[in-house]
Amino acid sequence: MAKFNHGTIEKNSILLLVLTVIAVSIGGLIEIVPTFLIKSTIEDVKGIRPYSPLELAGRDIYIREGCYLCHSQMIRSLRAEVERYGHYSLAAESKYDHPFQWGSKRTGPDLSRVGGKYSDEWHRLHMANPRDLVPESVMPGYPFLAKTALDYRHVEDGLRALSLAGVPYTADDVKNAKADIEAQANPDADTSGVEARYPKAVIRDFDGDPKKISELDALVAYLQMLGTLVDFNAHDSADFNQ
Ligand code: HEC
Repeated sequence: MAKFNHGTIEKNSILLLVLTVIAVSIGGLIEIVPTFLIKSTIEDVKGIRPYSPLELAGRDIYIREGCYLCHSQMIRSLRAEVERYGHYSLAAESKYDHPFQWGSKRTGPDLSRVGGKYSDEWHRLHMANPRDLVPESVMPGYPFLAKTALDYRHVEDGLRALSLAGVPYTADDVKNAKADIEAQANPDADTSGVEARYPKAVIRDFDGDPKKISELDALVAYLQMLGTLVDFNAHDSADFNQ
């Protein structure tokens, strides 16, 4: 029997091909099979919930206006970032984002934890003309947002579409979507429904005009909740699981 050593394999191209395919397949299977066997690659984190309809409408405006072209929403686990922006982003914090808003450029600062950093009044003035607050700002003004009534006629469709993508909106959430928009932007309304469906939702008149729901109401509602869902003080950083 011929001695079966490396020389034999190298001189026989068919054998080399067959053995190469086997070796590569084993490597491939070891990498691919586990991704089919685990339920999710994203760990559940306490506090994460789908966006309320008003926040979702604000997020749509954020995308429409291209805010992501200048702002990221992803804090990397680097010391400089964590010291400037807060706890590094968790995968679960963007699991209901379709599409995600991580961004790839920071002309302005990261916004993933901007919620609660400023007052609504600050955002109102800043959105109208950033230079009124930050004289050297290169951010454009969006004064029309306060003047434009929010068009939420089709908000249920937005929730339905996201539930197809795996966001756990219930039939009840879809049914109440319009009422929830109206309740979240009006603290005088009956807010018990929206509070129960979307824990920690910030409920108030965001744009300073209680009589109408403007695009600015939606955008500020969205900005004010960014990064506020997970209570990092209640967790030890190694243990975010529910
Ligand atoms: C041309 C780039 C650009 C675009 C587009 C842009 N921004 Fe900015 N943004 C900046 C810059 C630069 C700053 C820092 C100076 C300042 O505060 O105005 C900033 C600051 C901010 C801040 C304050 C952040 C902080 O932590 O101080 C918020 C909030 C914000 N932008 C929201 C938005 C929203 C919402 C949009 C879309 C409607 C948007 N920006 C569009 C460049 C941009």
